[in-house]
Amino acid sequence: MNYIGSKYKLSNFIKSTVYSVVGNDLSNKIVCDIFAGTGIVGRSFKKEVKQVIANDFEYYSYVLNRNYIGNHSVIENTNVLIDELNALPSVDSGFIYRNYCLGGGSERQYFSDNNGKMIDAIRQKIEQWHTSQQIQDGVYYFLLASLLESADKVANTASVYGAYLKKIKPSAQKKMDLVPAVFDVNDNEHQVFNEDANELITKISGDILYLDPPYNERQYGANYHLLNTIAKYDNFVPKGKTGLPNYKKSLYCSRKDVLHEFEELIKNAQFQYIFLSYNNEGLMSVADVRDIMQKYGKYDLASTNYQRFKADKDANRIHKTNTTEEYVHILEKTGA
Ligand SMILES: C[S@@+](CC[C@H](N)C(=O)[O-])C[C@H]1O[C@@H](n2cnc3c(N)ncnc32)[C@H](O)[C@@H]1O
Repeated sequence: MNYIGSKYKLSNFIKSTVYSVVGNDLSNKIVCDIFAGTGIVGRSFKKEVKQVIANDFEYYSYVLNRNYIGNHSVIENTNVLIDELNALPSVDSGFIYRNYCLGGGSERQYFSDNNGKMIDAIRQKIEQWHTSQQIQDGVYYFLLASLLESADKVANTASVYGAYLKKIKPSAQKKMDLVPAVFDVNDNEHQVFNEDANELITKISGDILYLDPPYNERQYGANYHLLNTIAKYDNFVPKGKTGLPNYKKSLYCSRKDVLHEFEELIKNAQFQYIFLSYNNEGLMSVADVRDIMQKYGKYDLASTNYQRFKADKDANRIHKTNTTEEYVHILEKTGA
């Protein structure tokens, strides 16, 4: 999934930084990815550590992580379920079609009419199977994650859901194909949460804490609201031109609050090693981060050059360069 701040392309840099600090064997370590987003960083550690703890306060991210991190043993017959869902007749009275497709009467065009009707049909069937206990939680989240990723591929947006396009773009005209969200199988159990990082941190402990908070004012709840709407599928009155639900606002996106929030997180963390990804255009400066982290133990910094995410290149956002400096701030916490 094309995701703001995704570490898909940076995961090798992050992992090699972690290994160089902590050592070659992580098999008895608990690693927490507390701003997990797509879950890509936790996924890259899943088979190599004792346990991954994944968390994000957006519900769509929780769904993805329940599947990619939480699911760890083989689920039989998933292809039969996927085929059955792909073959469903479409539904023209569902929430997505009525509120986010042109034909549904809302004037919004986040999906083609046909894809909107199929998203509703599949979403309703997954819920029905789960409520009637035909499927257990692991399968439920696997199917929901498959739907989120498949719907995202045919979304009629420039990249995020803050706006839709006036004309249906070619990729959004294609018929949605429900593709399985395949997860890695391994022996160990993992944990997945859907909480504010600053609350969760007071309740967990482990060895390696990976932090990847938002860098700027752009709220994920607004930019990915359609994914939350498909994932939750609850009834609400969509607001304004883009059909926004009420959404949670992260203090990490607030210039006024971010330093206090970040320091609280570091202070309360019961983890020996803390790694923070942040770039040179974030709300906190490199010096801000260093000054806070240094108070709590031994600090170091690793950096690499990185190609900017495509949604950050649009006309409203003027940037001098096409690359950013990506940092991993490192803290070995004393007394953790
Ligand atoms: C930069 S993204 C993480 C990207 C992720 N590492 C990846 O590669 O997909 C930041 C994430 O932090 C989440 N977030 C923002 N504020 C949060 C908070 N207070 N507690 C937990 N998660 C939060 C957002 O929903 C978003 O998914």
